[in-house]
Amino acid sequence: MKGFTAAFLIWTLISLNGGGGQAWPTHTACKDGSLEVLYQSCDPLQDFGFSIEQCSKQLKSNLNIRFGIILREDIRQLYLDITLFTKEEPIFSYSYPVCEEDLPKFSFCGRRKGEQIYYAGPANNPGFEIPQGEYQVLLKLYNENYSTVACANATVICS
Ligand SMILES: *[C@@H]1O[C@H](CO)[C@@H](O)[C@H](O)[C@H]1NC(C)=O
Ligand SMILES: *[C@@H]1O[C@H](CO)[C@@H](O)[C@H](O)[C@H]1NC(C)=O
Repeated sequence: MKGFTAAFLIWTLISLNGGGGQAWPTHTACKDGSLEVLYQSCDPLQDFGFSIEQCSKQLKSNLNIRFGIILREDIRQLYLDITLFTKEEPIFSYSYPVCEEDLPKFSFCGRRKGEQIYYAGPANNPGFEIPQGEYQVLLKLYNENYSTVACANATVICS
């Protein structure tokens, strides 16, 4: 918890100094014996902090996650697009409403541009087992105007 907060503050500082079009550093969202999740921000303007608590290829439903970001846009509505690739071929694509006007699922829904979000809590995800392999995942968060709120590309290694 403390480690994450400190790391988030560092990322915040990086994101204020950055934006020069360079690649952001690769972060570890979680790592244990059989599963490793690495991610990198693909938003040229900022980096963000993300971690998953129970790291296991038998992915539990309602995983606890931590997420810290400075909002580039208002998020009355927020959507997450996930695309899964293996060997550069998209094999799965999923769109998930995170915040909707009538159905805010998370405490941060409705926050405004420029505000800092720090969320620690359940992700509301389904449980499933991750098949062995290496995957590339592209994640995009955007608001009702399709303005990017966050973007990340991740590598999932499951052995
Ligand atoms: C993100 O994408 C870049 C460019 O394709 C790639 O070099 C990098 O390894 C990827 N990072 C992760 C963590 O998957
Ligand atoms: C979306 O665009 C409309 C029209 O420009 C604007 O009134 C509204 O505030 C925007 N919404 C957000 C969340 O930025």
